Amino acid sequence: MQTYTAIAHTNIALIKYWGKKDDKFIIPFNNSLSLTLDRFYTKTSAQPITAATDSFVLDGQAQSGAALSKVTSFLDILRAETGSTQRLAINSTNHVPTAAGLASSASGFAALTLASCAAFGLQLPRRTLSRLARRGSGSACRSIYGGFVEWKKGQDDLTSFATPLAANEQVDLDIAMIALVVSAQAKKVTSRQGMATTVATSPFYPAFVKSCETDLLAIKQAIDAQDLEKVGQIAESNALKMHATNLGATPPFSYFLPETLVAIAAIQQLRAKGFLCYFTMDAGPNVKVICRGQEALKIQAELQALLPNTEMLLAYPGPGAKIVNSES
Ligand code: PMV
Repeated sequence: MQTYTAIAHTNIALIKYWGKKDDKFIIPFNNSLSLTLDRFYTKTSAQPITAATDSFVLDGQAQSGAALSKVTSFLDILRAETGSTQRLAINSTNHVPTAAGLASSASGFAALTLASCAAFGLQLPRRTLSRLARRGSGSACRSIYGGFVEWKKGQDDLTSFATPLAANEQVDLDIAMIALVVSAQAKKVTSRQGMATTVATSPFYPAFVKSCETDLLAIKQAIDAQDLEKVGQIAESNALKMHATNLGATPPFSYFLPETLVAIAAIQQLRAKGFLCYFTMDAGPNVKVICRGQEALKIQAELQALLPNTEMLLAYPGPGAKIVNSES
């Protein structure tokens, strides 16, 4: 039987999604904005099968238990939404270093959505694919597109989807990201748990949501003006505000480790020397440096000298998700 293969790249948010208004449909409280990266991606094939249940192979290993049911539950959503009854054999490979805090769930669910819908025999508009990917993991809706991507929060399932900032999905700004793998330790609080606790208990949460509105407007203007310094400043401040909401939660929690603060100090040290470099962080201890593409190798070398034991992975803007083949 035919196999349908899709590739989707990871994305890193510059304006963060942190908190759901609706848990079932994954409708966020605020719009977010990300950059899709070229270097890290998931490749997923879906093959229609006549078996009674779906199967799932990840990085060459047949999955069972929670990992399999996460995929079958998502395929059930896709089947319910598209009217398909087709069972699938899913085979997925992550070209994303594990535990690097690079959100393989975003590329994973985006690739799974494309490959599965193709295997159901459907050719869906990308807006629909973005809405469907959102149901797997919120940030996955942004990985449908390349370059800078905004997730418009909307108010329900139909109106919450991502859209590229530039129609051609190209990035004119000279931007790169360096992922600093400061710790490979598994995170203690998943993004799902972290968001839920913060939304329910942190008095700082409403202030974060409010400031995302102004940060989003300002960063879009800075991107238009190709002002990377501004982009970096806004992204760094937005990430710190997101992490501040967690300190205000009950019980309080933080994704920062001692190594995180050491990495941040190194970035600040380079900045004091005149380098343009800022950082962002997601639901884990690792730090992503935002810098000019042209200067990225130099900044990486400077950081490596300050942080000799830290693995560093350099990435540039990347493309949207696509079907790469459908073969018999
Ligand atoms: O899509 P999720 O459920 O993995 O949540 C992602 C949340 C952050 O990475 C922290 C922020 C974001 O906008 O990607």
